[in-house]
Amino acid sequence: MDSAFYAMRVTPEGHLVHVGSGTLPANLAQCGLDEELWFDRLDDYEEYNYVWNNQGRCFELPCFGDVNYVESALKVSFPQPAGPLEFGDAANLPVRDLRLRYVSHDILHDAAPGLAPEHGLPTRGPSRATLCVVLKDEQYDFFAKLFYRVSPAQNIIERWVELENCTCMTVTVHRLCFATMNLPPGKWEMTHAAGVWAREFATQRTPLDQGTFVMDNRGLNTGHNHNPFYLINETAAASEKNGTVHFGALAFSGNWSLQFESLFNQTVRVHGGYEAGDLSMPLAPGQKHATPAMILGWSEGGWGQASRHLHDFAREFVLPGAAPQPCRPVLYNSWEATYFDVQVENQIELARKAAAIGVELFCVDDGWFGARRHDRAGLGDWVVSPTAFPKGLKPLIDEVKELGMKFGLWVEPEMVNPDSDLYRAHPDWVLHFPGRPRTEMRQQLILDFGREEVVQFIGDALEKLLRENAIDFFKWDMNRFATEPGSVAGQTIGHRHAAAVYRIMDRLRKNFPHLSIQSCSGGGGRVDLGMLARTDQVWTSDNTDAFDRAIIQDGYSLAYPPRAMECWVTHEKNHQTGRHASLDLRFDVAMRGALGIGSSLNQLGEEELARYQRKIAFYKRIRPVVQEGNLHRLALAAEGGTSIWLSVLRDGSQAVYSSVTITQLQGVFRAPPVLCGLVPEAIYRVLDEHDTELARYHGAQLMTLGLPNDPTKGGFGCTVRSKTLWLVRAD
Ligand code: GLA
Repeated sequence: MDSAFYAMRVTPEGHLVHVGSGTLPANLAQCGLDEELWFDRLDDYEEYNYVWNNQGRCFELPCFGDVNYVESALKVSFPQPAGPLEFGDAANLPVRDLRLRYVSHDILHDAAPGLAPEHGLPTRGPSRATLCVVLKDEQYDFFAKLFYRVSPAQNIIERWVELENCTCMTVTVHRLCFATMNLPPGKWEMTHAAGVWAREFATQRTPLDQGTFVMDNRGLNTGHNHNPFYLINETAAASEKNGTVHFGALAFSGNWSLQFESLFNQTVRVHGGYEAGDLSMPLAPGQKHATPAMILGWSEGGWGQASRHLHDFAREFVLPGAAPQPCRPVLYNSWEATYFDVQVENQIELARKAAAIGVELFCVDDGWFGARRHDRAGLGDWVVSPTAFPKGLKPLIDEVKELGMKFGLWVEPEMVNPDSDLYRAHPDWVLHFPGRPRTEMRQQLILDFGREEVVQFIGDALEKLLRENAIDFFKWDMNRFATEPGSVAGQTIGHRHAAAVYRIMDRLRKNFPHLSIQSCSGGGGRVDLGMLARTDQVWTSDNTDAFDRAIIQDGYSLAYPPRAMECWVTHEKNHQTGRHASLDLRFDVAMRGALGIGSSLNQLGEEELARYQRKIAFYKRIRPVVQEGNLHRLALAAEGGTSIWLSVLRDGSQAVYSSVTITQLQGVFRAPPVLCGLVPEAIYRVLDEHDTELARYHGAQLMTLGLPNDPTKGGFGCTVRSKTLWLVRAD
């Protein structure tokens, strides 16, 4: 790796233990020493771990069994003893004791974790080397392979586990993590995203004192309450720009858990994987199971650098499509304009107005299918509504294409309203426990994707839609979380549901390579690296209030790239909060990611539409910087009332400065933040949305004194409510 290391060793008894990992001091990172030479005495380390009868030992994969009584990453039970009973052994006692020992290791070049995308679309990055360490139980022919795939430029290792049952009996897996990350003794704190519907991605900082802190989700989606990523640093020793940060994320959209176990010796272990509360996975003789990946990484440049590593990793290795990737198009979405009152006429009217202001992708939201004239009926019936579209979708799609836009549709494939043809025909196709109530949320139930025929049926219905209509884009929604998860897949539905969603998405993308997908789950309920591997963009929240959104975006950006962040400009009086926001503010917030428009364009006057048009034209000029640049969070909304983002192209030739003040603290003067990533000797022109040059500054000045707050020129620093400025090298 460029500037990080990861060291482990095999003990004389055959345990694979962690010795250390993290960033290298700058001078070491550059000197390129032979790794063999550095690490030829690993046996000398790890003394401190022996205390308390081995309980502090840093196993790479701590198992339930052996002498381990702290948290495990893997727990299985064998129905019978491995050999004949010995004197004094009780008969027929399942053996819940796993003693994994080192067998061999190898370097692979084509290894992929479980649930890796199979849509055939390449990612941009090069192939990566993977270390595979094979472990086996001392007696049972039960194997665990530990994988470590290295992305050196991003200081990231992806870890996953593959189990293989080579015994003659069915082994039950009760707990399975993708990895355990061991941190050395210290006083640690963790930064993560917590929240709820309409307030997703609220940044939270949690001390990791002795005990266990758990983030998880049990609803069969990624969830609104926690998002599966973390940034850990020694308490108060990191900032946006400085400090050592250990970070991680799960590439998985099913029931997940991240446990932060802080032990008596002040070490912390992070166990990331399947949520184990309702897991019971049988592994038949000869069967294998590969988990998805847990991403681990290190930053020496604070939370900001950790985020940039994760963004870069997502763009290079996760998001579908090889380089060069075109920018995400400007989208129009009809939801807040027409809600369920979707008619061919009102959609055509919206499409014409959208095209005139510069929209590139027109998406019809909920209400276009089956009996879906409200949220009480129709989900599951993926056929065009004859009431809304008497001649099918063709007249609208033809119009949209003639206007030069792409066409998109909202779908919610995992769901069914009891009032639907699908449910009437197959009431047994939903998650439920026989003889028990089926609790509805938003009048809907969840299809049992543990049933292969259901997955096939939904995949076929979507394929038919795509074959019969020139659709370029799906907004794929999931508007309720699961309760009462009774499935024919038993207690594996926690991951089988997500796996089935992935399979349908992969199938569609493979057969329709031009299709792009947006992930949505009642707002930001399904944003993670597993979903980003088959979607192009995500919806971070149903809350489109610009003030709230600035906070949501700060939290989202901790782990995920702006390129994938869909954000809409909606009405002046926000539909969720009732708060008023100026057009400038709404655009300044929405232009930080993939811009979308969700306003009732058919109710706006010519003058306002002309302002939309100018703003969209400006966005298109700055879009490559916003979507491909390195992001520096110069100030956070939740901390001082102002969020300031600076996106800089890698060569420093252009930057976008976006300042959004959501709370004006009277009497507080803010010095302009110092800019980063520019070329010190270059001269930058500062342009506004009209391409008017406001000033010129030396890179060195901007990188030491910041961008001045100059009220005489309209205040282009951070004291005004919001501003988006484009910095372009003049020389
Ligand atoms: C969810 C989405 C919204 C919209 C509605 C439609 O709430 O997050 O954007 O698509 O569903 O029912």
